[in-house]
Amino acid sequence: MKVLVATEKPFAKVAVEGIRQIVENVGFELALLENYTDVNDLYKAVSDADALIVRSDKVTKEVVEHANNLKIVVRAGAGYDNLDLPACSAKNIVAMNTPGQNSTAVAELAVGMMVFMARGQFNPGTGSELMGKNVGIQAYGNIGKIVAKIAKGFGMTVYAFDPFVKKEAIEADGVIVCTTLEELYSKCNYISLHIPATEQTKKSIGYNLLSKMPKGGTLINTARKEVINEEELAKILEERADLKYATDFATGNQIELNDKFGKRVFAVPKKMGAETAEANINAGLASANQIVKFLKTGDTTFKVN
Ligand code: 3PG
Repeated sequence: MKVLVATEKPFAKVAVEGIRQIVENVGFELALLENYTDVNDLYKAVSDADALIVRSDKVTKEVVEHANNLKIVVRAGAGYDNLDLPACSAKNIVAMNTPGQNSTAVAELAVGMMVFMARGQFNPGTGSELMGKNVGIQAYGNIGKIVAKIAKGFGMTVYAFDPFVKKEAIEADGVIVCTTLEELYSKCNYISLHIPATEQTKKSIGYNLLSKMPKGGTLINTARKEVINEEELAKILEERADLKYATDFATGNQIELNDKFGKRVFAVPKKMGAETAEANINAGLASANQIVKFLKTGDTTFKVN
């Protein structure tokens, strides 16, 4: 069996070695396609693979069409909006993610961005403290939960909105539940986004919600670029000179935002939420283990299609 790791943004070497060990220990073969820039290289590499591990790499209908032997694809990470699930299902390919494996890295980045924005992006001048401020977590999943824990350590009051998680489970963490997004945005100095990009959430964060934020409000986006309504974000930043935005994904209009709003906006040069050795090891090894388990025993835990 051939397991292909196809990563346009490679895993840390130590994670690749861990994946290799897991794969080779059971007599499978590991193939690596890293740093590729031409999708044709992916088409070629996937043509004889039985299993595929990717990060944010797009597994499109075309990729699936080129995969003659593929039985399983694992997205080493949480969000699987990069996988064409109907195309996978049509060819009986099992698609999985590795929920929770890189959550700490993303949560730490989100809180780090709060400090960075509160302190003028580490430029001279008077900043503010997180202690005593309110943070609103939009979606209380694996990452949101860790953000809550870290934020409490900073002395913040934590609020959350998540209609898919039981109120009691959120409250058990000492987090205040908001029943509407409007309530969350109007109560919180910081909002940290942890929603997936779906048909329901795409472009869902815009003028109406952001205009509810208190003075000096800061939106932190380590979720997905697509959930932001970029035109409306620009409009509210223009109208409200106190609001700030930090993100793990440059928006389509990032250059315009940077020019217009200077230190009130920040985008990392390249998505880095899950870029820690620990997260790479956790998600990479989990992917390899899930593949081995599936190919050896048919286990479909973490199947998403
Ligand atoms: C995820 O959904 O797990 C994160 O967005 C990580 O993405 P990456 O593997 O491209 O860093």
